[in-house]
Amino acid sequence: MDTAALNTLLCPICGLDFSTRGGHSVSCANSHSFDIARQGYLNLLTGHGTKFVPDTAAMVAARDAFLDAGHYRPLADGLVDTVGPLLSDSAASSNTGSGTPEPALPVVVDAGTGTGWYLHQLLAGLDRDGRPAPAAVGLDISKFALRRAARRNPGAVNVVWDLWRELPLGAGTADVVLVIFAPRNSAEFARILKPGGHLVVVTPMPGHLAEIADAAGLLGIQEDKEAALGESFGAEFDLVNSRELAVPLQLAPADVGNVSLMGPAGHHLDAVALGDRLAGLPALTEATAAFRISVFEVAAARA
Ligand SMILES: C[S@@+](CC[C@H](N)C(=O)[O-])C[C@H]1O[C@@H](n2cnc3c(N)ncnc32)[C@H](O)[C@@H]1O
Ligand SMILES: [Zn+2]
Repeated sequence: MDTAALNTLLCPICGLDFSTRGGHSVSCANSHSFDIARQGYLNLLTGHGTKFVPDTAAMVAARDAFLDAGHYRPLADGLVDTVGPLLSDSAASSNTGSGTPEPALPVVVDAGTGTGWYLHQLLAGLDRDGRPAPAAVGLDISKFALRRAARRNPGAVNVVWDLWRELPLGAGTADVVLVIFAPRNSAEFARILKPGGHLVVVTPMPGHLAEIADAAGLLGIQEDKEAALGESFGAEFDLVNSRELAVPLQLAPADVGNVSLMGPAGHHLDAVALGDRLAGLPALTEATAAFRISVFEVAAARA
């Protein structure tokens, strides 16, 4: 687990940093101790209990299989192109002062990191482009997802946390907060961003995967609601820019099955009905993934 990334975290009980770090736990000066799981993620949610129903192992496996097949690689490339310049600008502006011998690493927080696939692509792409390597924090409520994220991004700190709670990071910590199809706690995102930091949000656009909506049993209304929210982020943020991506896909029935399982519909899927629908599909179905990548900054009134 990366020390720079761990340095960004605060004890969720008392707000002190984690001054004691062993192989299997971290603790603050008040002896609040949290386990690092065998699989490498840090669980800060102990003792809280939450009503949220996390994605199941099957949903997480489907998401990983679909992403690993590379269908959404153009979106990952778009993220690298969007986030790279933001981090370079941020590094340049924070290193202009004199008397700072060791410039601090920029910090990226991936809110709802899931299996860490996009964060991995982002970190690899930044490295390829010679951009500043950030300290990376992945937050998610699903342990099943974080097991994979910790394996995929061993240099990041992957933390079990509920995004609707106060985040376990100090005010003004992050250069970039990423939200890729994940919950938006805009007040907390605004709090943890550095002055001049950016929120980068990926949302599906209307018509996203419309060709397979029936076959995959997608929850169309939810997608449309998400799309409508794409360009606004409450009073805390102003839109800086946004770009739209239309990605042509050729999907085998197994891919359509993964799309079905990996989304919110995966929570209440009738496997027999899905099998019947998939059996009726051709060897390849053409579909279009439609995304928007939006960049926000903290609203002038709040900054
Ligand atoms: C649609 S998935 C997207 C995951 C990842 N960003 C990606 O695109 O592959 C949404 C993620 O948000 C997580 N999530 C949902 N509600 C959450 C909450 N309240 N706190 C933390 N994570 C949450 C889920 O566990 C899931 O991994
Ligand atoms: Zn503490």
